Amino acid sequence: MIKKISSMAEYHQQYQESVQDPEGFWAKQAETFMWQKKWDKVLDWNFKEPNVKWFVNGKLNITENIFERNLPTRRDQVALIWEPNDPKEKEIKLTYGQLFEKVCVVANALKKQGVGKGDRVAIYLPMVPELPIAMLACARIGAVHSIVFAGFSATSLMDRINDSQCKIILTANGLFRGNKNVALKSIVDEALVNCPSIEHAIVLRRTGDPINMVEGRDIWWEDFLKGVSNENTAEVMDSEDTLFILYTSGSTGKPKGVLHTIGGFMVYAEYSFMNVFQYNEGDVYFCTADIGWITGHSYLAYGPLLAGATSIMFEGVPSYPDAGRFWDIVDKYKVTHFYTAPTAIRALIAMGDDWVTSKDLSSLKVLGSVGEPINEEAWKWYNDLVGKGRCPIVDTWWQTETGGILISPLAGITPLKPSYATLPLPGVQPVLVDPEGNVIEGNNVQGNLCMKFPWPGIIRSTYGDHDRCRVNYFATYENLYFTGDGAKRDEDGFYRILGRVDDVINVSGHRIGTAEVEDAINQHPKVVESAVVGYPHPIKGAGIYAYVTTEHLTDDQLATIEKEIVDLVSKLIGPIAKPDKIQLTPGLPKTRSGKIMRRILRKIGEGDASSLGDTSTLLDPSVVEDIIKGAKVDVKR
Ligand code: WT7
Repeated sequence: MIKKISSMAEYHQQYQESVQDPEGFWAKQAETFMWQKKWDKVLDWNFKEPNVKWFVNGKLNITENIFERNLPTRRDQVALIWEPNDPKEKEIKLTYGQLFEKVCVVANALKKQGVGKGDRVAIYLPMVPELPIAMLACARIGAVHSIVFAGFSATSLMDRINDSQCKIILTANGLFRGNKNVALKSIVDEALVNCPSIEHAIVLRRTGDPINMVEGRDIWWEDFLKGVSNENTAEVMDSEDTLFILYTSGSTGKPKGVLHTIGGFMVYAEYSFMNVFQYNEGDVYFCTADIGWITGHSYLAYGPLLAGATSIMFEGVPSYPDAGRFWDIVDKYKVTHFYTAPTAIRALIAMGDDWVTSKDLSSLKVLGSVGEPINEEAWKWYNDLVGKGRCPIVDTWWQTETGGILISPLAGITPLKPSYATLPLPGVQPVLVDPEGNVIEGNNVQGNLCMKFPWPGIIRSTYGDHDRCRVNYFATYENLYFTGDGAKRDEDGFYRILGRVDDVINVSGHRIGTAEVEDAINQHPKVVESAVVGYPHPIKGAGIYAYVTTEHLTDDQLATIEKEIVDLVSKLIGPIAKPDKIQLTPGLPKTRSGKIMRRILRKIGEGDASSLGDTSTLLDPSVVEDIIKGAKVDVKR
């Protein structure tokens, strides 16, 4: 097991060591894991291609590190607690021993269906125990999981399956989310019409809904498991074999499949989990993220389970059956560590304080925040009402591409500053650069946030298109990994994340690419063009504002087009990408070379037309006036 940092002095000492001797430092961490064969070399890297390899030629299986390594001391300890959507339904608790058995059964069942090392498996499941079980079963046999959040549309699912040529999909007939009941299988059916690589769909029965099973293709979960043994020997994997692909949006094109490999991801997941959260024996850890996002991968499933923790997964939403649900769960399981997103906190603030002040939250020790900058008001509420002023808040900054937390306080160790992610973890070497890529030295400065040295959890590639990985993250600034975020470093060297500096909108902690939303809107037959920007939203952090030009519309068409656009985006991407505001406008502000000036649209969306800057270079400056007049917000001039 990784030994936790226990003081600020020790943090500084580990940090120094990790910079002066990264290979020695990470070898020491990696030695606490179970390897079938040790690595020949700790690190091989360049950010040019990029080509990063950790624990070169090491052989292992990540699930042996979750199970075989933990079982001698934890067979009967609860690994996973499942809290259902409906509080009246019974929870499920699985010990390490029980979870292991279930993982082995699914691993063997996958093998029986012909799934083997390197094959891609799509997982499109609700937040039920079968989701992490399926995930770990893939890892057990060396298959690559590609988990698709079960809120994505048929088209999004189809794109992801096809991009990585998944052989099999694990799904459910339906799902419960709050008072909603989603017919998941019909979404899958729609997607699979255009997914020739899929041989079988394995279907879990979660809701009572009848569904259509396609003969020869679809298999019920219970039939899939029939006659399968519960003993399985882990596949021996290379440290740099792929563990999973997770799709995420960028500033251009379709979502890309961020690829993580086994050895580095494993070491970094446990190391960062233990140190940031300061998990102790007997603690109960509750991460509210869906496993369909990276937070769920690293800090609901892999990190805590590697560390031998007890991890809660919650099927539902914070507002069902009422706004006290999170706190009921905290009380029910005596949660010690609670990790959520600022958007959830803001939504709960809006519901009133009684929902939280009336609950017993005395078990809590550590609070976490992730996904977007936490504003001071939300920080204060979280600190005062939830943590009663006695629980450190770890504001954890990281990304799908980083595999794990890079900048964050260590709970109870690092001094806190509201809205600051504070200091880099050992092994993490942030730099701030100006737009030309010059490194900005010293403190009290701000710039674009980059990393100058690899950490074990860093992205290895984008599936099927390595050059896209290079162009996206390693080509903006030479020899640096560029995060896409701006940041400030204060007088103490503490980092405050300022948000995206690219065309990515952070909606409720989820990344939405503006290009992707525009592509969806443009598919409406009456739409000529569109431009999408983010604007400040009280709950979501950022809302989606779409400026749209259309062909001539009749009054009837005018009456329905906004709803049609919203439905279209929902159908093509998923409900999370729905525009909050749609403004029909006669034109968009463009330069003479035809480039849309988003800066102007962003300003107007923020309600501030006082500093639009020079609009004289526009092809037609009068469109700006039209847009301000028709804006869906109050615009100050
Ligand atoms: C982007 C990554 C990594 C988990 C969830 C999101 C923003 C993330 C913070 C934070 C300020 C944050 C950044 C980043 N972000 N955490 N603590 N403070 N901003 O993962 O979808 O890959 O998005 O989320 O802008 O680049 P993701």
